[in-house]
Amino acid sequence: VDGSDHYDEPNAPITNLRVAQETVKRAGLRFKIEGSPVKVEQETKNKDAFRRSPAEEEKLVRRPPVVTIMGHVDHGKTTLLDSLRDTCVVQSEHGGITQHIGAFSVQLESGEQATFLDTPGHAAFGAMRARGAMVTDVVVLVVAADDGVMAQTQESLKLAQEAHVPIVVAINKVDKPEADVAGTRKMLLNAGLQLEEQGGEVQAVEVSALTGHNLDQLVEAVVTQAELLNLRSDPTGAVEGVVVESRTDPGRGKVATCVIQRGTLSRGAVLVAGTAWGKVRSMFNDAGKPIMSAPPATPVQVIGWRQLPSAGDVVLEVEGEHRAAEVVEWREAVLKKQQQEDDATAIEEKLQEHL
Ligand code: GTP
Ligand code: MG
Repeated sequence: VDGSDHYDEPNAPITNLRVAQETVKRAGLRFKIEGSPVKVEQETKNKDAFRRSPAEEEKLVRRPPVVTIMGHVDHGKTTLLDSLRDTCVVQSEHGGITQHIGAFSVQLESGEQATFLDTPGHAAFGAMRARGAMVTDVVVLVVAADDGVMAQTQESLKLAQEAHVPIVVAINKVDKPEADVAGTRKMLLNAGLQLEEQGGEVQAVEVSALTGHNLDQLVEAVVTQAELLNLRSDPTGAVEGVVVESRTDPGRGKVATCVIQRGTLSRGAVLVAGTAWGKVRSMFNDAGKPIMSAPPATPVQVIGWRQLPSAGDVVLEVEGEHRAAEVVEWREAVLKKQQQEDDATAIEEKLQEHL
């Protein structure tokens, strides 16, 4: 991770268009259908919405880290998140209805902030990475000290490493009599993690998510790790972000929890996300309190969607409703074409098999 506003990857793949172009290229060669890759690309540039090019240095300002908790089943991810929320969320920010949303911010006594994402699940993490929608700056790898490194611990480790996301280890459940901290550390080393006390660079904090033991130290370790990344973003201009959770609420309608990555979201902004679009009618923070604007790294619940976007969709602000509708129509057409071509490829492969 180079750290400098790495949300702004110039060629970050958006939705499925890159895949679509590949498909068209492949299908074009095999079936000689109309539409050369070049033409598709030109049309795409006009009709789709793209992430902006990298920000100018002087526009970049510091932003809080976005942290994802990962680890083996039952090792305490949810308990850890709940305890972090309870112990660290600034009390004054509560006021509205506290809800369980997919992301929340904690503020430390030092004034430092960090945004935590509810475990998106390994599949979602992989999907986001594939779509260039990586929001995670730091992974907290939870390992229960009574169980040690397990299959999903290793899987999480691999995902984080492949995504070049630094890891902070939470050695959890140290309150349990059967906790074997030394054994767990040894297992982590064997799994390829170079822990600090063994001369490496990975911090491991012994915690109890249940009792709250050492949670402040864990957050401190995350913030220290984040400082090394020098995370910055441009809070001006058209908004970019990622949907981390979406649902239809009986009272509020279609709600998408988004993490803003660039720009500052405000009411009235027109957004596209995948094949959904909307105009921001209202916004709520992680404590359920209405807010007027959301700067980078802020989790925000957005209301005003025409269609419900999906978790992992890239959110982009466009000029207006007409443009949003055009982008969505274009994306739907691309997806449809891709589907038809995939079907055609599948049929041809079937035919080949029978020859
Ligand atoms: P999945 O979502 O199923 O993967 O599990 P998880 O990783 O979210 O684990 P969860 O937080 O649900 O915790 C699993 C069990 O471990 C629960 O019964 C927790 O109460 C218990 N637990 C979690 N953290 C601690 C801890 O620090 N100490 C002790 N003694 N128990 C814990
Ligand atoms: Mg859980």
